Amino acid sequence: MAQAATRTIKVEIKRQSTPDGKATTEAFEIPYRPNMNITSLLGEIALNPTTVTGVETTPITYDSNCLEEICGSCAMLINGKAMMACSALVDKLEQPIRLAPLSKFPVVRDLAVDRSVLFENLKAVKAWVPIDGTYDLGPAPRQFPQVQEQRYPLSNCISCTICMEVCPQFNDATGFVGAATIAQARLFNMDPAGSVLKEDRLRALAGDGGIQECGFAQNCVQACPKGLPLTEAISDMGRDVFVQQVKDLFTR
Ligand code: SF4
Ligand code: FES
Repeated sequence: MAQAATRTIKVEIKRQSTPDGKATTEAFEIPYRPNMNITSLLGEIALNPTTVTGVETTPITYDSNCLEEICGSCAMLINGKAMMACSALVDKLEQPIRLAPLSKFPVVRDLAVDRSVLFENLKAVKAWVPIDGTYDLGPAPRQFPQVQEQRYPLSNCISCTICMEVCPQFNDATGFVGAATIAQARLFNMDPAGSVLKEDRLRALAGDGGIQECGFAQNCVQACPKGLPLTEAISDMGRDVFVQQVKDLFTR
């Protein structure tokens, strides 16, 4: 009796063993299972890291943690598009599936990149609520529900850096901080306790690589996996930065 052909998944992965190493591509063919995502596909390769030509290789290095699009660590280029590996379903992707590291961040190894620039940018705009935890502060200040409704979507940022990857302005020439940083500055400026640092944040965004570098390409808002209202946040912050600059002109 003729044997049914075994269904497989074809995948090509850009690999690089060190930050300065030469990039190569390895091809794999994995037995098909329904409902796989890219993270489980990479897990299958790790169980048997052998290329399609039978060459034994090493498991693929990539970042992941939560496996449910919450930690933001697994962003990579999947068929050329910046996506989260844990929520990208194999059944919805054209084959061979092409995996590559994000292109705007230094490669650590294979699909893992160094995205610390985002965290440096968040530090530059003081994207936090300053709290002295050495004594009981009592209940937090109250918030209007309308403000809470505006803030909540911004609080869903998972620091995946996809908005920066897809932004034509996010590059070495501009030093643009990117949409996520501006959105988080907006989130904390609207916080009744966080607003104490509002002017510092606005002045930081008025400086080099700040909000004036945004070209309003709007790629960020389309690519953000968590649907943050990024263009709205950038417009709101653009207005606030301008008002702060005028204020500073007359008072400093
Ligand atoms: S704003 Fe969206 S795309 Fe940018 S880091 Fe946050 S979740 Fe990712
Ligand atoms: S593993 Fe956490 S977002 Fe994908």
